Amino acid sequence: MFDKILLAVDGSDHALHATRKAAELARAVKPEELRIVVAYDPIPLYLGEPNLQIAITNRKGEAEAILAAAIKEVGKVPCEIHTEIIEGDNASAIIEVATTRGSDLIVMGSRGLGRLAGLLIGSTSQKVVAHAPCPVLIVR
Ligand SMILES: Nc1ncnc2c1ncn2[C@@H]1O[C@H](COP(=O)(O)OP(=O)(O)OP(=O)(O)O)[C@@H](O)[C@H]1O
Ligand SMILES: [Mg+2]
Repeated sequence: MFDKILLAVDGSDHALHATRKAAELARAVKPEELRIVVAYDPIPLYLGEPNLQIAITNRKGEAEAILAAAIKEVGKVPCEIHTEIIEGDNASAIIEVATTRGSDLIVMGSRGLGRLAGLLIGSTSQKVVAHAPCPVLIVR
């Protein structure tokens, strides 16, 4: 049923909580793969070189650190773990990966790094729920 699970993480505590749930789920349902995705905002081309390259390297470095923390949190799971770092609008990037990889389930936090404390659910989660090609598990 859930052969291909996509986990979206942004380095927030909420995403780490979602990571623990995704790992528990993977241990229970034994999927084919757990794909962990980090998106970063597009970098404006007008930065010009060498700033553009520096910005890209920094974003990728941050994304890699976020992925490493998520993989550590996942621990042992009975499936392959894949990772993807994508530039683009966060929600669009998550939806695109879910579509192209044929994900059966997207797991994500209800909130992320955003600072608007009153929000029940962040804008990335809202957009993904509205446009995802598969079921979405919002962890809170
Ligand atoms: N850049 C990202 N890459 C991958 N997943 C993300 C990214 N940003 C958010 N997510 C996922 O979406 C969840 C909810 O984050 P969201 O961005 O919706 O909330 P927020 O940051 O509190 O609000 P907002 O971004 O609207 O200010 C996170 O816990 C994470 O699972
Ligand atoms: Mg956010």
